[in-house]
Amino acid sequence: MDHDAILAGDVRAAVRRVPPSDGGRAAWYRGWMIAGDAYTRFATELAARGIWLGTTAAAYRSAHELPGWYTVFADLTPASVWMPWVAGRTPTGADVGTLVAALGGGPGVVKDYVKSRKHEWDEACFVPDLSDVGAATGVVARMVELQGDDLAGGIVVRAFEQFVADDDGRALEARVWWLAGAPVLVTPHPDAPAGTTVEVSAEALDAVGACVRTLGAPFVTTDLALRSDGVWRVIEVGDGQVSDLPAGQEPGVLVGALAAAGRSLGLAVDQG
Ligand SMILES: Nc1ncnc2c1ncn2[C@@H]1O[C@H](COP(=O)(O)OP(=O)(O)OP(=O)(O)O)[C@@H](O)[C@H]1O
Ligand SMILES: [Mg+2]
Repeated sequence: MDHDAILAGDVRAAVRRVPPSDGGRAAWYRGWMIAGDAYTRFATELAARGIWLGTTAAAYRSAHELPGWYTVFADLTPASVWMPWVAGRTPTGADVGTLVAALGGGPGVVKDYVKSRKHEWDEACFVPDLSDVGAATGVVARMVELQGDDLAGGIVVRAFEQFVADDDGRALEARVWWLAGAPVLVTPHPDAPAGTTVEVSAEALDAVGACVRTLGAPFVTTDLALRSDGVWRVIEVGDGQVSDLPAGQEPGVLVGALAAAGRSLGLAVDQG
């Protein structure tokens, strides 16, 4: 599919090279992130060609956007609040004060429903003390400004937790890839330096897996980090179709698992 055409709003052009199927066929998407609304149009257009995405539009949203997965993972992830927000509108102190009140004070992290400005950490991501509403508003407003038209869904503020970090101060994150509720691959986060290895405890995988199965989306990733008190935490959930695989990771394991899961989905579609 042509991702540029999706971004330009022409979903028909985007899928014109996908072979239609008379009998109905299941398919996975693997590629760049797509906004929730655009994914819905993409799935609808494919369905009109007899192609059924393994991940429905509702399932995509539930894994891709924080408000979709947060409640299911609430015990395993930093406390978070959010509000829908229109791209380009500058939030006021009243907007931000109301939003963060439920988190109390202490440090916080700001992002939209999908992405942060983690590379502009002090300016547009990290708030040293959420009870300083003026400072929090500055960081939130800068995040909104920098996301520009790409602001996804709205504003999220999360309680900051201290994670075990590498020498550069980056939280060491393990990305677990789940297919039909089972972990099929564990990789480092794609931003980790080449050669980074990660290991996740079996207990953590069990706890996260139970939430993944409750969420129900068939192909998801979970980014896990070890909190400084030794507890594994979920930093974020993502839709596996649009999650990055580290550059050095051999793709065969994942592609093989997707093919196998796709075959069983294909059968389900054929049987109506
Ligand atoms: N609640 C938190 N407490 C402490 N650190 C956090 C918290 N949330 C995020 N971080 C840090 O900020 C980074 C970016 O956060 P997050 O992964 O949610 O954003 P992102 O932009 O979606 O990143 P990416 O998609 O590249 O993984 C994380 O990798 C982690 O190091
Ligand atoms: Mg992340």
